[in-house]
Amino acid sequence: EKGGYNHFMLKEIYEQPDAILDTFRGRLLINDAVIKLAGVEDNMKKFLAADRIIVVACGTSWHAGLVSEYIFEDLARIPVEVEYASEFRYRNPVITEKDVVIAISQSGETADTLAAIKLAKSRGAFVFGVCNVVGSSIARETDAGAYTHAGPEIGVASTKAFTTQITVLTLMALRLARAKGTISSSEFRHHLIELETIPDKVKEALESDSYVQTIANIYKDATNFLYLGRGFNFPVALEGALKLKEISYIHAEGYPAAEMKHGPIALIDEQMPVVVIATKKGHYEKVVSNIQEIKSRKGKIIGIVTKGDKNVRELADHVIEVPESLECLTPLLTTIPLQLLSYHIAVMLGKNVDQPRNLAKSVTVE
Ligand code: F6R
Repeated sequence: EKGGYNHFMLKEIYEQPDAILDTFRGRLLINDAVIKLAGVEDNMKKFLAADRIIVVACGTSWHAGLVSEYIFEDLARIPVEVEYASEFRYRNPVITEKDVVIAISQSGETADTLAAIKLAKSRGAFVFGVCNVVGSSIARETDAGAYTHAGPEIGVASTKAFTTQITVLTLMALRLARAKGTISSSEFRHHLIELETIPDKVKEALESDSYVQTIANIYKDATNFLYLGRGFNFPVALEGALKLKEISYIHAEGYPAAEMKHGPIALIDEQMPVVVIATKKGHYEKVVSNIQEIKSRKGKIIGIVTKGDKNVRELADHVIEVPESLECLTPLLTTIPLQLLSYHIAVMLGKNVDQPRNLAKSVTVE
């Protein structure tokens, strides 16, 4: 049942190239230069009339929502707010009929997300679901939606659900960008071509596995980790930290790299491993200077870099390479080594990777 892998989590990490292909199927039509998402087509008027998009979700799905904020705003120029479902539903939020709410949930059963959807609907918003489990409560409660098609995710720590959520949200953003005319047809086509290469690039990113294992072995006894990223990769830093916390029980924090100097930099000493996502493009020089700040305080630097990178390699203690891509698509690649790092550390510490303590696969209580 684990297909030769020791844990469901590892199996699911390795399933990502195929899972993303499944998410593309029938939707990313490269020869026609078209994206087809029935739930979006059928409700195009509502999307085009939307003053803003409000994303509601929890945990890893919330991180996918944060990535989508950067993507929707950049490509489709629609303002996006990303909300923890649990905060949103209890806040008396301002919601109008001109809002489109996107609810993201792997299980489709998360109680807080479901309650946020009901609230948004009662105030007249159009609610679109991005779920993995077909026929789940959230899939049924939403007005329309698009499934991620990641296949069953058994490991409690979400992996392939995250990357396929980002994939669906990227397809949505591109489709809306085309409809709104916020990107040209040639840019659109270029994005489709780049998107189509992602499954192979995820495969390539997975080849870092044995080197990530070496790094895991060096830092497995650290009691704290910091994860830093900027732009599209800031939410990936949050997700990397969450994965480590969940399954290895090591305290970790994710931060936007530039926020470090406003507090967390005080934590840095020779005991502190800092994972920095520093891919080319995307504020690269700024991230390099953030790395210098860490280095001068003797922090240990694990850089996630674009293949062939030289600058970060000179400064960092370790670098893990991912293939080059469009900046907005890099989260699908930079996430991979972070999943592997948390997995290997947890295994080395003898933790129950697939069923970490205190956690459940779907949180149906509030
Ligand atoms: C993290 C994790 C949780 C879930 C969260 C939302 O690995 O599994 O943080 O992401 O409970 O769950 P769904 O997506 O099912 O609504």
